[in-house]
Amino acid sequence: MFNKYDVFSVLETAKKLLKFKELPDYKSDAEVLLSFLLQIKRSRLPFAYNQILSLNQLCQFEKYILRRAKREPVAYIIGHAGFMEFKFKVDKNVLIPRPETEFLVETVLNLAKKETNLKILDLCTGSGCIGISLAKMGTFKTIIATDINKCALKLAKENAKINGVKSIKFIESDIFANLQQNKFDVIVSNPPYVTQKEYLTLEKDLMYEPKLALIAKDDGLFFYTEIAENAKKFLNNTGYVVLELNPNKVPQIKQMFIDNNFKEIEIIKDYLSLPRVFKAKIFV
Ligand SMILES: C[S@@+](CC[C@H](N)C(=O)[O-])C[C@H]1O[C@@H](n2cnc3c(N)ncnc32)[C@H](O)[C@@H]1O
Repeated sequence: MFNKYDVFSVLETAKKLLKFKELPDYKSDAEVLLSFLLQIKRSRLPFAYNQILSLNQLCQFEKYILRRAKREPVAYIIGHAGFMEFKFKVDKNVLIPRPETEFLVETVLNLAKKETNLKILDLCTGSGCIGISLAKMGTFKTIIATDINKCALKLAKENAKINGVKSIKFIESDIFANLQQNKFDVIVSNPPYVTQKEYLTLEKDLMYEPKLALIAKDDGLFFYTEIAENAKKFLNNTGYVVLELNPNKVPQIKQMFIDNNFKEIEIIKDYLSLPRVFKAKIFV
């Protein structure tokens, strides 16, 4: 792929190839992959432009670029992603944490400003990004994080360790199945919510992410229905749910929570002005 071996030329060739493959962020993709390979900050790349890559480095970089050309997400190639201000290890067992999910964390942190010592349930934790960020950024009495996927939980535990968080209890559970008598002040969740139909229209990059993390039956509403109908058993008297929204299903989601005695409903928009966070309080 490369006929000149200095950083500048290699980078230019990689950018051209990714542009040809119609990757919208071809420049940053190539730069992130090369700086990862060289183990330097992306901002330091220009200072290394004259450096000559070894044969091993060239082969490795070519592999990265070819994987990206096939639309494998950069986060899976380099094995980590940034979320809030922290680094999370990711692999094909977990969804790559998304910037819009940060609004969920901020919403819970705002609740914690008013009431201290909250007990939190991070349902469908995946990489653990929500629960771990909360543990890093706030003071909570308990944080329990659950997922049905053993491999995701293993990675979430590793992420807790990497980020120096010891306080989270991880439980393997099909939604609420293994939570016994636990009661929480906040149930926060970014559940699977993509419909079968929506899945077929998603970008190729998303096909690398686990279907288990994306698709929900009942036209994308399965997890919202389960939470709306069962959350009261796991919430304290004035507990909250804070959920990431499928922006295409807002009226249906809102109605099912109203029907289940949730009030003070708030919908928070993300940076694209899409309805992204659903916050509601239970009244028993
Ligand atoms: C959309 S991902 C969210 C991951 C992470 N919280 C985030 O925001 O990046 C949904 C997660 O739900 C988990 N999941 C799928 N079905 C589940 C079930 N029945 N019970 C519990 N977790 C489930 C998946 O394994 C996946 O990790």
